Amino acid sequence: MNAEIYARFDAPFSRTDTESVKWDMRAELGNADALPLWIADMDFPTAEGVISGLSARTAHGAFGYSLGQDRDRQALTDWYASRHGCSFTPDDILFCPGVVDGLYHALCALYPKGSRIVIQPPVYGPFFSVCEKAGMQAVENPLVRKGGKWQMDFEGLEEIFKAGAQALMLCSPHNPVGRIWTKAELETLAALCRRYSVRIIADEIHCDFELEGKHTNILSVPGAQDAIMLVSATKTFNLAALRHSAVVCRDEQARKKLSDRLSEVMADVNLFGRLATRLAYTTGAEWLDTLLVYLREGRDILERGILDTGRLLPTHVEGTYLMWVDCRALGLAGDALRDFFVKTAGVIPNEGKFFGPAGEGFVRLNFATCHENLREAVKRIKTAVNELKII
Ligand SMILES: Cc1ncc(COP(=O)(O)O)c(C=O)c1O
Repeated sequence: MNAEIYARFDAPFSRTDTESVKWDMRAELGNADALPLWIADMDFPTAEGVISGLSARTAHGAFGYSLGQDRDRQALTDWYASRHGCSFTPDDILFCPGVVDGLYHALCALYPKGSRIVIQPPVYGPFFSVCEKAGMQAVENPLVRKGGKWQMDFEGLEEIFKAGAQALMLCSPHNPVGRIWTKAELETLAALCRRYSVRIIADEIHCDFELEGKHTNILSVPGAQDAIMLVSATKTFNLAALRHSAVVCRDEQARKKLSDRLSEVMADVNLFGRLATRLAYTTGAEWLDTLLVYLREGRDILERGILDTGRLLPTHVEGTYLMWVDCRALGLAGDALRDFFVKTAGVIPNEGKFFGPAGEGFVRLNFATCHENLREAVKRIKTAVNELKII
């Protein structure tokens, strides 16, 4: 934890008029003065080493075809070894613009159309659309809530596997319910997948956000040797518009198929995306440690505030900076719930239905913003809920 970096997270930081989807679409979404707690990026400047490295490269002025991917692969390998204790070799890595692109191309490269791909809703919306676009059949094994915690339904999974499935798309940590799957849970999952020859394709874009508990990469789980792991520094270091991600695959045959597919559809990744990623992984550890302190405090402000409404039920977030909130006690659904948040409260959430039909009646709130914004958001939500009680 570095006090200077902490102060930067806590200082006012405007993103309006920066072509920010989150901030500059507020009027379009129904309230120009609303606090946007939706799409998953952060209201913080990235790490200083990234900013200065990109500035220096920009100042050079020539942006012709570039080398450098060996260094990028090494930086990513080193980050995962030192930060997560996860070992793979630079040769296991393929680069791709976005994690969602990587999921799509992995499905297209590895499975014939019509294959059964298991997903566990509520889950990040593109898990559904990627299956659809790739011509796959998404088979849903919904998460279950037991003892106040969202869990994977292993019995349901086994029934699906018995009927046949080619792969399971895992979201780890899980967006939107904020779980960091324990090593034991992942071992159970891997054993089940192995028994039925189902490959795990794990989207681990949120894996650096360890607010509570230790994240286990799928490639560190015994029995998941053939798993594919998709990661990116863009979520961790707030670089989403730079479009850079990695697919890590130890299975040589699968990697070759995916590599062939990627070279059919793209020539190279973007210089700034991969440079920013390398700078982040080589200079950003202290920035991230401090960010985690700030995010934990932000989570607590939001969680307490949501609980205080007496009617909304937050999940306790272990990983990600996204809180899944059960609003069903308000008795509002669909557009009425969205209007309640956006127009009445003045806070823009992600609507639960983005995460599948079971998300109806829920919203997702992003707490990667300064604490002052979170306190204001809590005040607005509480006032709106109280007024709703009177009606
Ligand atoms: C689980 C998950 N995967 C992927 C993405 C998007 O990744 P990319 O922009 O690299 O496609 C997000 C963004 O919110 C996400 O939450």
